[in-house]
Amino acid sequence: MIGIFDSGIGGLTVVKALTEQLPGYDILYFGDTARTPYGTKSPETVTRYALRNAEFLLRKGAKLIIVACNTASSVATDQLTEKFDVPVFEVITPAAELSVKTSEKLRVGVIGTRATVNSGIYEKKIRAMNADAKVWSVPCPLIVSLVEEGWLRKPETRMIIKKYLHPLKVRQIDTLILGCTHYPVVKDIIQRKIGKRVKLIDSSVAVAGKVKGFLEENPGKEALLSQTGKSLFFVSDITAQFEHTSKNILRKKIRLEHVRI
Ligand code: DGL
Repeated sequence: MIGIFDSGIGGLTVVKALTEQLPGYDILYFGDTARTPYGTKSPETVTRYALRNAEFLLRKGAKLIIVACNTASSVATDQLTEKFDVPVFEVITPAAELSVKTSEKLRVGVIGTRATVNSGIYEKKIRAMNADAKVWSVPCPLIVSLVEEGWLRKPETRMIIKKYLHPLKVRQIDTLILGCTHYPVVKDIIQRKIGKRVKLIDSSVAVAGKVKGFLEENPGKEALLSQTGKSLFFVSDITAQFEHTSKNILRKKIRLEHVRI
């Protein structure tokens, strides 16, 4: 099974991208809804949670792990890859790679949680790939709450997104990384507010492409993954709100199973 974890329900955007690019593979999802949000917490705390989440997925039979959460990917990847001997994928590198390939003017914007932006990880990765690239990052913490509230069509949401994107617009970026699980849900608004000439990089689509490429090149690892089209969704807390958000993301109702970890 492919194990995917996130701080909560937002990581279902990665499940969606993965099932589009790799249909049929069995998926084990864990959303740490009892401890969400991660984006406002310290790197040490997020790393501790991330290690526990990965252990849970491995216990349940995952043979490959995807860290869907940008915040956990930003701060916990090194420890995860050191500790576990299954392939671990994070969402930062694939999105950074895609942005360097996509950006003609090498002027890249990044939006994410405060923890992701504070980590400086996107700048580091992008500038290591191309030292001429210019990168500007803006934390957009309210977007997570707006998506979780289901405020997808409200004028307030459009206004807040416009305000967040203003500094990036001024910099005349030509590529924008959606560096948070929740942002693909309001991709249309983001595109309208940043301008249609700016290319959006969706980290969920980018990581799904990376995993697909890896499995094509590593048939031995691919053979370990079951393919019966089954998806199991576990969460560490359950409320009606999570069911509602998951429906907004996957466009279908899913069964969330409560586990204490
Ligand atoms: N999953 C988080 C991320 O992608 C967003 C929600 C949170 O702050 O926990 O950064």
